[in-house]
Amino acid sequence: MIWKKFIFDTLQSTNDMAADYPPYSVIVAKTQTAGKGRYGHEWISPTGNLYMSVVLPDEAKNTRFYAFIVALSVVQSLKAKGFEAKVKWPNDILLNGKKLAGILLEKNDKGIVAGIGVNVISCPAAGLPYEAAHLNGAVSCEWLADEILKNVHLNMKELKQNSFMRLRETYLNCLQGLNTQISVNLPDKRLVGIFKDLSASGALILQLPDKTLKEITAGVVFLMD
Ligand code: BTN
Repeated sequence: MIWKKFIFDTLQSTNDMAADYPPYSVIVAKTQTAGKGRYGHEWISPTGNLYMSVVLPDEAKNTRFYAFIVALSVVQSLKAKGFEAKVKWPNDILLNGKKLAGILLEKNDKGIVAGIGVNVISCPAAGLPYEAAHLNGAVSCEWLADEILKNVHLNMKELKQNSFMRLRETYLNCLQGLNTQISVNLPDKRLVGIFKDLSASGALILQLPDKTLKEITAGVVFLMD
């Protein structure tokens, strides 16, 4: 195992704690008092779910693929227990179309912190802008953490050896909404089109109503079908 794991009972946020640790450190907490979601949202963090932050090295040519690799690693881990989870581009994890897990990547001067939250025994019943799912306790947080770490390690190795080429194929197979109509919220506008493909660098390729193709590198996807 290349990882050095640090386990805490309660933290404000495993991502905040991980900011003080070097690459290949892993911070796990049983509960978070100020869990962070994307876009400044709160990640409600009761005991029983997985809250883990993995510090990855900031490597010029690989860092831009981390969002995909971590999402893929979560999906692969769940598959090992029979759960057919999917990825909503770039890195939301869905189970039966509902959000099961979220990933928050943050960069600091030591590396890239990949925070992973998986709803293992519960999810908020209301108050979210999306529907959420949980695993009903079908796996233990300890097993899931180690399985995700194993897969992140394997996928990082593949990324270093062969770049994103083969991983892109695997990631494509895990995507929800490919070849369907989606809408994408960009900072300044909302686009609607067909999710056609993924570029070599992982950008979403959207076919607009006038049939032109637009590469999107950041945005919030809404599935429509
Ligand atoms: C999202 O909004 O989808 C991202 C959620 C990320 C939550 C995880 S839980 C572990 C880590 N620590 C945090 O404060 N956030 C991430």
